[in-house]
Amino acid sequence: MDVNAVINAARATTTETNWRQALPVLTSSMVTLRELRLSDAPSLLSMLATDEVARFISPPPTSVDGFERFIAWTLRQRTAGTYACFAVTLRGFDTAIGIFQIRQLEPGFGTAEWGFAIGSPFWGTGVFQDGAELVLDFAFDTIGVHRLEARAAVLNGRGNGALQKIGAVQECVLRKSFQRNGQYLDQVLYAILDSDRRELAASVRVH
Ligand SMILES: CC(C)(COP(=O)(O)OP(=O)(O)OC[C@H]1O[C@@H](n2cnc3c(N)ncnc32)[C@H](O)[C@@H]1OP(=O)(O)O)[C@@H](O)C(=O)NCCC(=O)NCCS
Repeated sequence: MDVNAVINAARATTTETNWRQALPVLTSSMVTLRELRLSDAPSLLSMLATDEVARFISPPPTSVDGFERFIAWTLRQRTAGTYACFAVTLRGFDTAIGIFQIRQLEPGFGTAEWGFAIGSPFWGTGVFQDGAELVLDFAFDTIGVHRLEARAAVLNGRGNGALQKIGAVQECVLRKSFQRNGQYLDQVLYAILDSDRRELAASVRVH
């Protein structure tokens, strides 16, 4: 191994272990993603604990206390290296308007699952797409995910549309796989592979 290869390997290891100590701040033209803080609880409550946001996802906490407990849990899971949760903020502002989360499905994060929720005033504004690109780079380049899965209830039009437009591939329908409000719902299973990301990057460079 030459000197550059050794340095690059050391850098990769450093980034790989560092996110477990503290999540990086990720910035695009529109959004900044950062670690959650306990003080995000009130704004997350008002953004995420609404009927339209929560309709097709696991029920969010219903109080500031509940969100504080959730945030404390996310920090413990991140330290354990099994999960990461980013607060979504508009660039230049500090208020959390949503979250992106990613969890390992096997030790070492080779396969992982992500999920997201954004306050409805920010739907259709480009916030999702901007944040999703940052999270995908983090998942594939920093954590080293090989296959990133997502599930969306078949009835969740925006969730399915959002996943499709960032290049997630529909693989199958998981029948009656998710219980919400006492009903079992079908979900679509989506995946993005590291090779999909490389092909997309190469096609962007060519065109
Ligand atoms: C999922 C979520 C983060 C996406 O953010 P968003 O800002 O609504 O997403 P976007 O507007 O960028 O993309 C949604 C796409 O679905 C399309 N869409 C909307 N309703 C649709 C429907 N009923 N059927 C199909 N596509 C639909 C939109 O037109 C848009 O595509 P376009 O930009 O090409 O027009 C947001 O809707 C949300 O937080 N929903 C509640 C939480 C949730 O369901 N999370 C889990 C998702 S699996």
